[in-house]
Amino acid sequence: MKNNFRIACLTGAGISAESGIATFRGMGGMWENHSIEEVATPEGFRKNPLLVWEFYEARRKQALSCKPNKGHIGLARLQEILGEKNVCITTQNVDGLHQRAGTKNVLELHGSLWKVRCTKCQNERETFELFDDLPPKCSCGGILRPAIVWFGEPLPQDIFKNALFEARRANLYLVIGTSGVVEPAASLAKIAASEGAVVWEVNPEESALAYLCQKSFRSKAGEAMDLVIEEILKIIKE
Ligand code: OAD
Repeated sequence: MKNNFRIACLTGAGISAESGIATFRGMGGMWENHSIEEVATPEGFRKNPLLVWEFYEARRKQALSCKPNKGHIGLARLQEILGEKNVCITTQNVDGLHQRAGTKNVLELHGSLWKVRCTKCQNERETFELFDDLPPKCSCGGILRPAIVWFGEPLPQDIFKNALFEARRANLYLVIGTSGVVEPAASLAKIAASEGAVVWEVNPEESALAYLCQKSFRSKAGEAMDLVIEEILKIIKE
């Protein structure tokens, strides 16, 4: 039994698709019906905070009504079996479904729907309540913004540093449900591969990271997860 076999994982919108949350790209994707410039940039927020909040409040409301699926639950189980220090999930998702499935220490590269930050005093807090009046205000009087990383904004550096650390020391790097086209998230898989990790992908379609992968599970995350875990446990027991 290999005790120090380390698994790092990068997840994207595809892992939440079976929970009923739309992905971003492709047919029916979120970016087909919304302008990135209007709802996912700091300029868009300065121009029309109400429009941006209406977009995110609808996503928060929807996420509250969704449940983690077999993909999220399988990864939480894998972490439980192998230990928190051996399984690290880095996600581009902001829906909180990994945490609701029981995964610990999730690295949220693109922020969270469940955190808000004041544009005046910069105070950040977690909240699961839906707001009656949009845009919501801080107790200091400033306008709150969703603590989401928008286009043109840097990633939270401490979180990215941890994700990089985990990618570098991983024996196996799992890429699940991401198109792999957004940087610097996609680089994590490239760095893991260049440092010697074996890379596996779970995605019904080939992502931009498919060329790195020794193994590809061409099915939905929830459908593939039992097999993925079985294959991992086989390697660890060797
Ligand atoms: P995308 O919408 O770009 O890609 C979703 C991927 O999931 C695609 O490759 C699909 O083939 C795959 N997919 C669909 N259903 C799946 C399923 N059931 N199981 C597994 N895979 C499935 O989403 P992301 O790669 O997450 O950033 O996008 C990255 C970032 O771009 C997002 O975090 C967001 C977006 O703009 C910000 O908002 C900052």
